Amino acid sequence: MMTAFAPAAPSVQHFLAQDYSHYTAADQHVWQLLFDRQMALLPGRASDAFLDGIRRIGFTREAIPDFRQVNPLLQQLTGWELVVVPGIVDDMVFFGLLAEKKFPATTWLRTLEQLDYLEEPDMFHDVFGHLPLLTDAGFADFLQRLGEAAVHHSLRWPGNLELFTRLYWFTAEFGLIQQPDGLRIYGAGLLSSHGEVRFSLGQEPVRLPFTLDGVLETPFEKDKFQDLYFVLDHMEQLPESLAQLQARLLE
Ligand SMILES: [Fe+2]
Repeated sequence: MMTAFAPAAPSVQHFLAQDYSHYTAADQHVWQLLFDRQMALLPGRASDAFLDGIRRIGFTREAIPDFRQVNPLLQQLTGWELVVVPGIVDDMVFFGLLAEKKFPATTWLRTLEQLDYLEEPDMFHDVFGHLPLLTDAGFADFLQRLGEAAVHHSLRWPGNLELFTRLYWFTAEFGLIQQPDGLRIYGAGLLSSHGEVRFSLGQEPVRLPFTLDGVLETPFEKDKFQDLYFVLDHMEQLPESLAQLQARLLE
C-alpha cells in the first residue's frame, strides 16, 4: 500500500476526443500526400515490424485514421489505445500514460505549407509513425514496461528521468535495426519524416551498434536531424536493455 508520503505518479484525468467531422477536404488531401510519399519510400527502408504493423492497423491513403476505428483494433491486438492530447505532454505524464498502455496523440494535421517542417509533432507523426509498432506485441510490451520503470525510478529521484528519456529517444523515436536483408528504421521520428528517412540510412550520420551505455551517455537535440543513431541487431535488445537499466538503478 502506498504510504501517505509516497509521491504519486502524475496522470491525465480527462482526455479530449478526436472530432472527425472537423477534418476538411484539404486535411484529407494532406494525409493522402504524406501517406503516399512515405509509403513510396519505406519499403526496403522501414523495418518488417513497422510494415507488418501498417497492414495490421489498416491505415490507407484514402482517409485520415478515425480513432473510433483504430482503438478497438489496437485494444484487441495489444491492449493499447490512443488518447487525445492537445500537444507535447510532460515527460513524467508521458511515461505514466505508456505504463497504462495509453499512447498520447494529437489530432491536428499539418497544412500543405508545413509539409516538411513542424515545430511540434502532428498526428502524422503520432499516429502514422507510432501506431504500427504498437500493434507488435513485443514492442508494445517494451514500451509499457519502459513507462512503468521510468515512473517508478523517477518519482523519488527525478534525475533518473533523463536516462529513460534517452532510452526512449534512441529507440522508439530514432532507432535503427540491422535486419538480415539490410539496415532498416523502426523509430517513429524517422518513419514520419520524409527527409530523415534517407538521411539516417545515408553516408552522413554516425551509426553505432546499440548499447545501453552508449545510449545513456548520449544527449540528444530535438528540432534537427540527429547526428548519431543506434542500431539494434534484434528487437529483444530493447527489453534486455531496460532490465539492465532497472537492475543498475536498484544496486
Ligand atoms: Fe513521437
